[in-house]
Amino acid sequence: MDLELGDTHSELRKLARSWVDKEVVPHATEWDRAEAVDPAIVGRLGAMGFLGIGVSEEFGGSDGDALAYCVLLEELGRGDSAVRGIVSVSLGLVAKSIATYGTREQKQRFLPRLCAGEALGCFALTEPGTGSDAANLTTKAVRDGNDWVLSGSKMFITNGTRADVALVFGRTGGPGPKDVTAFLVPTDSPGFTGTEIKGKLGLRGQATAELTFDQVRVPDSLRLGDEGTGFKIAMAALDKGRMGVAAGCVGLAQACLEAAVRYASEREQFGKPIASYQLVQELLADIAVEVDAARLLTWRVADLVDRGKPFGTEASMAKLFASEVAVKAANNAIQVFGGYGYIDEYPVSKYLRDARVLTLYEGTSQIQKLLIGRALTGVNAIV
Ligand code: CAA
Repeated sequence: MDLELGDTHSELRKLARSWVDKEVVPHATEWDRAEAVDPAIVGRLGAMGFLGIGVSEEFGGSDGDALAYCVLLEELGRGDSAVRGIVSVSLGLVAKSIATYGTREQKQRFLPRLCAGEALGCFALTEPGTGSDAANLTTKAVRDGNDWVLSGSKMFITNGTRADVALVFGRTGGPGPKDVTAFLVPTDSPGFTGTEIKGKLGLRGQATAELTFDQVRVPDSLRLGDEGTGFKIAMAALDKGRMGVAAGCVGLAQACLEAAVRYASEREQFGKPIASYQLVQELLADIAVEVDAARLLTWRVADLVDRGKPFGTEASMAKLFASEVAVKAANNAIQVFGGYGYIDEYPVSKYLRDARVLTLYEGTSQIQKLLIGRALTGVNAIV
């Protein structure tokens, strides 16, 4: 069941799918068990142009619109959410923020290497004490001559131990969203430490880290955007980020559907394939309907982005729905697999573990509901 795409996007889907089936799917279980994807995957993603979609060719990108980005992230999400997450963060949150707000020098310095997969980016917003309440972050950035001195820590940072540049949000004045500023911090700066967080439920192949800044000195030339605009830069990045996560969720749910349909046709009980039982068909039908609905919600966001229309509320809707669908699809797929779904010889147990974080990161389901409710009523129930 596929939805109609134009030639360019269909070609991209075909290319991404065959690459993922060859380079990602056969290794996903092994990377999950090892708690690390092969680091060489980053260079391979770059060589395919997958780390440059939406960034101008002038700075090493591969151009492409929001729909192309969603198609790519869906295919990566169908293969391995850990790999999809690397792209979501390095390209979607970091490179695209540099492309939007960076000076020419910043673009020339960072974008070609990020797009080629010669360097990785991480997005350092969340802190040990501020997850949903991002506007109250406490990492300090204090001006000292032509430099800024950063101190504090960040938590649950995707790519944190692998990144070459961290997009760090620091407080440059009083409390609240207006005194937050963004910085591009090379991760080899003295005082910068990344510590990997092990033992995650899912996304085990992806490097997730705690970062600490002990008097990290950053030149003012690496400030991204104006002083005090950091919170808006973070929120705008997350609006598009939520579209990308939604696309990744669609891919994961699609993988659940394909695995469950295949297994239901092969597995026999009571002398016939379990696909012939109505209650198994119900599990499959529920996934299929919800995957398509999630895909349409996601593509609506891409369409709004590509036409230059406001899309934040629609991105929250897509992210909310698609992430919940991914969890449900994985759960249904395990039900179809029975006991075999509970061991990692088959992919569906990993799908459920990987899906679980999707309702948490880049804004929890509860935050998405509050954003949608605020847009509907004009009443802010967040604070
Ligand atoms: N785009 C641009 N500006 C925005 C914006 C947006 N989408 N959303 C808010 N702003 C602006 C507002 O206009 C406001 O500015 P003005 O006063 O000048 O109008 C300012 O930012 C403050 O906005 P709010 O009053 O809405 O701020 P808030 O504190 O009430 O609520 C929130 C904000 C929606 C709860 C927000 O904090 C939020 O989204 N929280 C969730 C955080 C999150 O998603 N974290 C994800 C971490 S990153 C991650 O997961 C990546 C990874 O590694 C996988």
